[in-house]
Amino acid sequence: MGLTIAQKIIQNHLVSGEMKPGCDIGLKIDQTLTQDATGTMAYLEFEAMGVPRVKTEKSVAYIDHNTLQTGFENADDHRFIQSVAKKHGIWFSRPGNGICHQVHLERFGVPGKTLIGSDSHTPTGGGIGMLAMGAGGLDVAVAMGGGPYYISMPKMLRVNLTGKLSPWVSAKDVILKVLQLLSVKGGVGKIVEYSGEGVKSLSVPERATITNMGAELGATTSIFPSDEVTRSFLQAQGRGQDWVELSSDPDAVYDEEVSIDLSALEPLAACPHSPDNVKSLKEIGAIKVDQVCIGSCTNSSYLDLMRVASILKGKTVHPDVSLAIAPGSKQVYNMLAMNGALADIIAAGARVLECACGPCIGMGQSPNSKGISLRTFNRNFEGRSGTADGQIYLVSPETAAASALAGVLTDPRTLGEEAPIALPEHFLINDNMVEAPASEAEMDSVEILRGPNIKEFPVTGPLEETIAAKALLKVGDNITTDHIMPAGAKILPYRSNIPYLSNFCFGVCDKEFPARCREYGPSVVVGGQNYGQGSSREHAALVPLYLGVKAVLVKSFARIHCANLANAGILPLIFKNEADYDKIDQMDELELKNVRKAIEDNAPVIVSDKTKGIEIETEAVLSQRQREMVLAGGLLNYTREQN
Ligand code: F3S
Repeated sequence: MGLTIAQKIIQNHLVSGEMKPGCDIGLKIDQTLTQDATGTMAYLEFEAMGVPRVKTEKSVAYIDHNTLQTGFENADDHRFIQSVAKKHGIWFSRPGNGICHQVHLERFGVPGKTLIGSDSHTPTGGGIGMLAMGAGGLDVAVAMGGGPYYISMPKMLRVNLTGKLSPWVSAKDVILKVLQLLSVKGGVGKIVEYSGEGVKSLSVPERATITNMGAELGATTSIFPSDEVTRSFLQAQGRGQDWVELSSDPDAVYDEEVSIDLSALEPLAACPHSPDNVKSLKEIGAIKVDQVCIGSCTNSSYLDLMRVASILKGKTVHPDVSLAIAPGSKQVYNMLAMNGALADIIAAGARVLECACGPCIGMGQSPNSKGISLRTFNRNFEGRSGTADGQIYLVSPETAAASALAGVLTDPRTLGEEAPIALPEHFLINDNMVEAPASEAEMDSVEILRGPNIKEFPVTGPLEETIAAKALLKVGDNITTDHIMPAGAKILPYRSNIPYLSNFCFGVCDKEFPARCREYGPSVVVGGQNYGQGSSREHAALVPLYLGVKAVLVKSFARIHCANLANAGILPLIFKNEADYDKIDQMDELELKNVRKAIEDNAPVIVSDKTKGIEIETEAVLSQRQREMVLAGGLLNYTREQN
């Protein structure tokens, strides 16, 4: 039986498991990327692993998210990442060099390689034929240390493209169509693979727009073949030697298939407040527009902004509209400056922002209250723009530019003939904002710069024979990761400062919990059903670890949080008999006798409640690999052992 493109890459990188949908597989990772908002923690974790130099072929640290510097915290984080990168063999893309996914596509992505990144839009790399996946910071740290990345083997979904896009219809409209057909849940547990005659007519940046927003389908990743179009793109980037051909076998078997006729597509928009709430511009009508933002990792390529510049040339932005444009990379920005397109953009009255995520991550440009904002971005969730009642529509750069001039949502097809814009034969190559790591001979002399916002990652040792701990917190059902570790703008700059964050742990449930942890030492948290639901943030496990939580004993766990606890080295236990939940009270003295042996033997863990004089039978929710991990004291220690 033939293989799909993704299956071929997986087969070449398979370290463990079977390529059957749903089976756990381990993959060797060739490249990693981080952005600064998740990168600080990933590098603290990498340091804690004690591996002197990354073992990947290429790892790159980007600064593109928290680029506003209104206090010392973000700047401290940037300095820390810069010095860690230099010391440990990681390339560093300085603030101002561009958005991670855009720069990675231009300068580092290689067809047929595996890439994981601590950012959910890492699948952008699928536009160049990489198997590129978003992952947690700890996963990225482990991959940099040479450990495999584990996923459940996805199903294969084929999107067959026929025909050719009509003038003024763009790649953004293709992915909006896919979202309309499949919904934001349609890609869960799947890899979306694009094929068919229509693929040939799409350039690499257009393909990358499509794979970027595959994240909104919930897909593991999306991928295009690597063909002559890919080769020309890489040659134009001066990287022709990185090209390899990649296509699916003619007899490859897909679990699902959908077809899209590109010639039949029309301009679309995702309406508030979900990327799959897609309608045609005709259906939405000529609504009045307050703001237009062009950029983000979805639509900020040279091609996108050249199209925007050609629409704006010689015109003026409507007086009721604020138009903000952020080029995706220094390469794009510089080329626009050199060929005059930037002058057209400025002359039209656009506000040009630095090459960074900017408004996409809520760093400035929040719309006015109840404001209608057209954005070329990938997400339009309620409140993400920074304005709670802002109405965000996701559109193509062409629709965005046409609407900025007219002041109302405008179909770009009304603009007349489209000026042909092609990719250049040679992009401007100037990597002077990418710093190479120190050589092996020099790395020992590199000093890591730790400002006051950079604190050590909490490290644990191997699981003890017996754990003596107090039940320092008892909570009810449906505790979310937000209860455990609240998020929010106020504490966002402290992601690299676990001691500071620990002051807020369980603050919603019991403000005194952190103080009790400091007073009494090792603890067990007792909870009800569905403990740890909600966001997958790993801080909800790392902060309790820092506070001395040894085990979490509940009626049932949410899956991802349970895995995060095991990664951190905290024992996830469930009651054999749920009624035993009622027998334990907060502040009871507990003992987990011979717990190490119980985990080794996959036997029940007996919790003695010394205060009540009773014994409670519990079970660890761990796979074989996770048992080994918990015995070692968490994923970092486990990876260190494996090395
Ligand atoms: Fe940045 Fe927005 Fe992409 S935050 S990485 S531009 S989704």
